[in-house]
Amino acid sequence: MGLFRLDGRAAVVTGAARGLGRAMALALAEAGADIIAIDTAPLEELAQDVRDRGARCATREADLSRTDPEAATELVDWCYRTFDGVSVLVNNAGLIRRGPALGTPQEDWDAVLGLNLTAPFFLAQAFARLLYDTSATGSVINIASVNSFQGGAEVPAYAASKHGVLGITRALANEWSRYGIRVNAIAPGYMVTDLTRAHREDADRARTMLGRIPAGRWGTPDDLAGAVVFLASPASSYVTGTALAVDGGWLAR
Ligand SMILES: NC(=O)c1ccc[n+]([C@@H]2O[C@H](COP(=O)([O-])OP(=O)(O)OC[C@H]3O[C@@H](n4cnc5c(N)ncnc54)[C@H](O)[C@@H]3O)[C@@H](O)[C@H]2O)c1
Repeated sequence: MGLFRLDGRAAVVTGAARGLGRAMALALAEAGADIIAIDTAPLEELAQDVRDRGARCATREADLSRTDPEAATELVDWCYRTFDGVSVLVNNAGLIRRGPALGTPQEDWDAVLGLNLTAPFFLAQAFARLLYDTSATGSVINIASVNSFQGGAEVPAYAASKHGVLGITRALANEWSRYGIRVNAIAPGYMVTDLTRAHREDADRARTMLGRIPAGRWGTPDDLAGAVVFLASPASSYVTGTALAVDGGWLAR
């Protein structure tokens, strides 16, 4: 099982305060990585839970919604100064705005594309530049979605952003894998988090969706633990440019 260990490494996880980001940060800590957690929301509880697992945790409250190259460089530089061995970036922070395409305001479009696609791109760019400059290797893990493959129902900006996440995953893998910087995505299915609360509270919709999930249940944040550790660790050393669906079979349907 040594292939899956991350001792001596540090992982940056955006949107780590709750939901999928929190579960992935804790899984990476259990595999031995120190965690650098970034979120707009308070991170004290997550930090304590990471430390309880024997890893170090640094936190930074930052709003990633308008991440340009300068902000990304400053943030990634800070991560490198904080812990040695920074070699994993999990681009997880994201949001969804629901509504029909005909009524989608530009504010929704810009907010969703800004956080879900522009921020991951420039964070990955700054991260890869530092790895390249120091001849280090690493793993970028972008959190995609089943809406990276499907249009979804009345989530046009979200679907565009997540198709884009898959696009940059492949494009960056093509450029960087030769330098030992792997780029992959995880495509979660329908998971029980705040992001999907509206779906679950709509009884008819929740029932229809559940009926379509081959596994017969919604996913939980802990369902991503194995996938994120795999993609962060040497266990996936020849895996790059791919999207690993963790969706209870949704995309196979
Ligand atoms: N829950 C699902 O079913 C599902 C499915 C597929 C993909 N995803 C993706 O997984 C990721 C995490 O989703 P989740 O379900 O855990 O959502 P969530 O809403 O539960 O958590 C999102 C986290 O991101 C943080 N965040 C929000 N805006 C931010 C900003 N501007 N700057 C920094 N941090 C910010 C939040 O504070 C929160 O901690 C997202 O990219 C989402 O699109 C979720």
